[in-house]
Amino acid sequence: MLRIVVLNGPNLNMLGVREPGVYGTETLAQIEAKLREQALQLGVELEFFQSNHEGALIDRIHSAFGQADGIVINPGALTHYSYALRDALSTVALPVVEVHLSNIHKREAFRHVSVIAPVAIGQIAGFGGQSYELGLAALVAKLQNGVA
Ligand code: DQA
Repeated sequence: MLRIVVLNGPNLNMLGVREPGVYGTETLAQIEAKLREQALQLGVELEFFQSNHEGALIDRIHSAFGQADGIVINPGALTHYSYALRDALSTVALPVVEVHLSNIHKREAFRHVSVIAPVAIGQIAGFGGQSYELGLAALVAKLQNGVA
């Protein structure tokens, strides 16, 4: 059974109350519940982790080495500047899909850059909580087709 780790970076634990005009009103727990349902249907195992700490996310990525088949990650603001997170993803060399609730490309200029994107298969942005579902489906399809 494929094992997928879904990672969430800083401030994503505050979804539901955090800037609802930008991120919607869905909580991270609600997003997780939907993903768990989707994982059951896809027949994959899912681990879900959120941290506000860069190092904790890096540790979780390292522990996916040899344990997981792929990673879906919303790195939050770390997207835009964390070379350490990017290096951690390169280190474990697992297929990665980057997801964002908001369309980072139509927001402030500093959000247009992702230092994670070059080490990801692809990026899905702008579909709210559905970005995660699209990301999971895309990653699993790639892995099942043996092209990730
Ligand atoms: C985000 C976009 C980032 O720019 C922001 O810092 C976040 C959330 C998104 O999901 O839209 O924390 O990753």
